[in-house]
Amino acid sequence: MYEALLRPLLFRLPPEPAHHLGLWGLGLLELAPGIARSRRRAARAERSSLKVHVAGLDFPNPLGLAAGLDKDGEAIIGLFSLGFGAVEVGTVTPRPQPGNPPPRLFRLPEERALINRLGFNNLGMHALGARLRELEWRPGPVGVNLGKNKDTPNEAAVEDYVVGARALSPLADYVVVNLSSPNTPGLRALQEPEALARLLAAVREEVVARPLFLKIAPDLEDDAVDEVVDVARASELDGIICTNTTVRRPVAHPLAKEAGGLSGRPLFDRSTQVLRRAFRRSDGKLPLVGVGGVFDGEDAWRKICAGASLVQLFTGFIYGGPGLPRRILDTLEERVSAAGLDSVAKAVGRDV
Ligand SMILES: Cc1cc2nc3c(=O)[nH]c(=O)nc-3n(C[C@H](O)[C@H](O)[C@H](O)COP(=O)(O)O)c2cc1C
Repeated sequence: MYEALLRPLLFRLPPEPAHHLGLWGLGLLELAPGIARSRRRAARAERSSLKVHVAGLDFPNPLGLAAGLDKDGEAIIGLFSLGFGAVEVGTVTPRPQPGNPPPRLFRLPEERALINRLGFNNLGMHALGARLRELEWRPGPVGVNLGKNKDTPNEAAVEDYVVGARALSPLADYVVVNLSSPNTPGLRALQEPEALARLLAAVREEVVARPLFLKIAPDLEDDAVDEVVDVARASELDGIICTNTTVRRPVAHPLAKEAGGLSGRPLFDRSTQVLRRAFRRSDGKLPLVGVGGVFDGEDAWRKICAGASLVQLFTGFIYGGPGLPRRILDTLEERVSAAGLDSVAKAVGRDV
């Protein structure tokens, strides 16, 4: 129904209005009388062989929504009702900011990809805090992904992350330090070991009773991935999210010249290599979240076998629609049972 009817209609709109319309529709699922139905649907997202316990949290299943789709937490319950086992909101910055001028989001349907240079458009941490306070019930963990304001110089970036963590970590189930967006100038330089260690130490002090994750770029060289893993472990992080979008262009498409981060199918291989590398470097001891180019259950299974304890997606959801999370969970359940396992957790890293 989505691919035959809804997607062609949505894809007739420019990408951003289509995005807002979709999110608005999902937000409606949260309103009465939709709320009762959403809750029942979300409850059905729990499947016994897919339940996982990661970084001290219980997830009804390992498939989460990646950051950036619901930056301001407008449709959290609606998104859970589609089957997601976790929803990551943000990236949120301390102060509201408009992001880059449009056009800033591009579809590459032939490549099943998107390019975005949104630049952390969001309503700011106080607005997100108010939304999270309204949620008296959550079917699974809600992560808060933190960024810095564009006009905060890199020398003062630590303060933005600390302020964000202080305001929002009490309202989050887990917290993510995002240093990997290509659309905030200079941000990714903070992934360098010294700067990273300083930043993570400061944020770790604020995030005491919650798991803390770091989200990294797929454009790090392999050695740099190793360094980041070492710093993450030394900083007592709870996990790494591999990966954000890429500035590389492994595609030949007229829109490939647009600046920004490429996501979707062309990102699958590199993001999975980074994941596998991080799994090896950490001897499988650091929980990893695999994200990048997941479009179906087989992709999700491959991420898990490459070392992901949790999987996320964004672009696959834009192309696959609201039925996709449940289709992925169906396939995962089949794969777990075909492998003779009673829990998906036992498949983590089996190919590494
Ligand atoms: C339009 C768009 C906006 C995004 N915004 C954010 C963001 O604000 N913060 C973040 O950490 N990642 C953001 N991402 C990256 C995704 O969370 C994800 O890491 C990446 O797209 C790879 O996954 P995918 O191939 O399933 O889309 C964004 C991605 C897209 C396509």
